[in-house]
Amino acid sequence: MSAAGQSSAAGLRTIRLCLLGFGSVARALCALLAQQERVLADRHGVRVLITAAGTRHGSLLAPAGMTPAAVLAVIGERPAPPQAARPADDLLLASRADVLVELTVMEEGFAPVATGHIETAFALGMDVVTANKGPIAWNWRRVAAAAAAAGRRIRFESTVMDGLPVFSLLEFALPDCRLLGFEAVFNATTNYIVDAMGTGRSFDEALAHAQSEGYAEADPSHDVDGWDAACKAAALANVAMDAGITPADIEKESLRDVPVERILQARSDGKRLRLVTTVWRRASVGDAPEAGPASPAGPVRGRVRATALDIEHPLAPVGSESLGAILHTDLMADVFVCEIAGLVPQTAYGVYADLLHLCRNR
Ligand SMILES: NC(=O)c1ccc[n+]([C@@H]2O[C@H](COP(=O)([O-])OP(=O)(O)OC[C@H]3O[C@@H](n4cnc5c(N)ncnc54)[C@H](OP(=O)(O)O)[C@@H]3O)[C@@H](O)[C@H]2O)c1
Repeated sequence: MSAAGQSSAAGLRTIRLCLLGFGSVARALCALLAQQERVLADRHGVRVLITAAGTRHGSLLAPAGMTPAAVLAVIGERPAPPQAARPADDLLLASRADVLVELTVMEEGFAPVATGHIETAFALGMDVVTANKGPIAWNWRRVAAAAAAAGRRIRFESTVMDGLPVFSLLEFALPDCRLLGFEAVFNATTNYIVDAMGTGRSFDEALAHAQSEGYAEADPSHDVDGWDAACKAAALANVAMDAGITPADIEKESLRDVPVERILQARSDGKRLRLVTTVWRRASVGDAPEAGPASPAGPVRGRVRATALDIEHPLAPVGSESLGAILHTDLMADVFVCEIAGLVPQTAYGVYADLLHLCRNR
């Protein structure tokens, strides 16, 4: 099976999905697919059906396929799909899907569970779309090798900047450009906390405020300690720079260690403090990104560091709920991309765009 799918009586190609993880992104994806049903049929000749959805606490198996709207109606506001939970491998096998949509949580450490889901899907002849950065950040070479061995494809646009095209930009819009490095604001939660601290709040007060407003998780350490940004940096560097690194290789500064005075000083100097991720390639280990021209053969280094940005810096205006990245390329010089106030629907859109890509290129 593959994203080629099967032809239906109406002449539409049917694409069957198995959803692993049924949280906010999966729900938003189902809503988007339901909303776009007509466009998918008329413009792309495609009908999307869901044959399985699974979490650790429930499942839904419908081998004949259900429309995304019907799946949403069945699951409704429940925390999990209504049938008993099934092991992911069993559900994948029983789903007979064309595409695994992997939307489980980012795991601590080496993303073994999500990587296993993806490898199982390839072995079963499925393509994969994921918004889960873990497998790309920790295991990209292994995942890419498994896809190649199985003759299958994987797309992951939403792993780095929600739905904002970064991988597609490099792959399709900037042909033959090499990514030499990048500078980015990859985490909106820390933007929000920094801006709240800039109004005189302590870190703890700013964090509590971010949590009460729904911007920060109950356990915010992934964002605050720089791991989320490091995972995104590793994912982009691994795919676009063949870096072969993991998030553990990226030097991280925690926002907890940034005194409020530093943020206030940046403001009074007319600057803006952000947790900036920098990835670069240098001739020798230990070279800083400021050290001079990059060496195409040098190792890839990365760091996440609280940085007071001059107001003219392209990343300085990246707001509380936004993400931005400057991509340093050889042929197109520096390209700046920014997502203004991205939310869950934009992440779902990135998954949708990846699905369309798989459908179109068959
Ligand atoms: N939210 C965003 O805007 C956004 C943006 C970019 C990327 N992402 C990424 O997209 C993925 C999904 O995000 P989300 O916001 O939808 O997360 P979420 O709301 O927390 O939902 C996660 C889902 O995964 C399930 N799950 C967790 N571990 C599982 C496992 N081992 N097997 C099967 N199901 C499992 C959870 O259910 P149980 O707990 O019942 O298992 C839940 O249904 C995450 O990797 C996230 O980092 C999200």
